[in-house]
Amino acid sequence: NGKYTVTLIPGDGIGPEISESVKAIYSAANVPIEWEEVSVAPVLKGGKTVIPDAAIHSVKKNTVALKGPLATPIGKGHVSLNLTLRRTFNLFANVRPCVSIKGFKTAYDDVNTVLIRENTEGEYSGIEHEVVDGVVQSIKLITWDASERVARYAFHYAQAHGRKRVTAVHKANIMKMSDGMFLSACRQVAKEFPDISYDEDLLDRACLQIVQNPRPYSDRVMVMPNLYGDILSDMCAGLIGGLGLTPSGNIGRDASIFEAVHGSAPDIAGKGLANPTALLLSSLMMLRHMNLNDYANKIEHAALSTIAEGKSITGDLGGKASTKEYTDAIITKLGKA
Ligand code: IPM
Ligand code: MN
Repeated sequence: NGKYTVTLIPGDGIGPEISESVKAIYSAANVPIEWEEVSVAPVLKGGKTVIPDAAIHSVKKNTVALKGPLATPIGKGHVSLNLTLRRTFNLFANVRPCVSIKGFKTAYDDVNTVLIRENTEGEYSGIEHEVVDGVVQSIKLITWDASERVARYAFHYAQAHGRKRVTAVHKANIMKMSDGMFLSACRQVAKEFPDISYDEDLLDRACLQIVQNPRPYSDRVMVMPNLYGDILSDMCAGLIGGLGLTPSGNIGRDASIFEAVHGSAPDIAGKGLANPTALLLSSLMMLRHMNLNDYANKIEHAALSTIAEGKSITGDLGGKASTKEYTDAIITKLGKA
């Protein structure tokens, strides 16, 4: 029927509401996508809690998925399902663009940077143990292959998106071996891309500089180990209005999952107040990944101009609109486009 099938993981808390919003906008825009909805709520299998097979098969078959927030237990409890998905499908690069929304007032109005986070190892390798009572080790695992792979992805991304510079963010002054090797991999890959400049920045210094003046970070791609990317991407999101507005894509060779970075917001779940923008913008990264750019551009314009007008925006953005009112405002704009 000429349609693409995409896996939809609505997720927890506000996940189902913001997913409904994206679905409504997509049908109004006639996007040629059929959603295959699956749950990743863990099931017991052979004494272990795992993601249901149906969800895994769906992502494998469709190779593209859109995912809402999944609650992650803190401290004890099962391993984060978010991480399980990234690992299961070997989604090695986490792409997080951070671009100011015109008309939405924040401290800076011209942030435009892209973070690419190594997404399979580093501080997230989940290798932890108690050595003796009161002494715990968490292993930060860095491999040459994963470093080289994410570095190459960052340079390709810069090339494909007209960005002139790749900056590797690190703490190789302290972690001389792990971050040192990450940098060596980046330097080696940089040689394959003579048209793109390459430099390196210490993580703490980068944080300081970006909050003081993000402009020099425009027009570039920053690449870094897992945890640094987790933290720096939230910080950058803060510069443009928070996690309600920032998209992300987990890219692998055989599958990619696009997701909102924010949490499941259980306090407002089910009340029709949630802001679906981050999930919507993530879905537009997905459309571009699928070469459906015209649909992405059209929806992006409708959403961003709705935010810029400021009349029908949700509470987190300083407005009074419900999820549905905001969604309907976007749909009205689509009709006029
Ligand atoms: C993110 C989130 C996740 C992470 C959590 C939910 C496991 O904060 O995508 O940035 O730490 O990677
Ligand atoms: Mn995070």
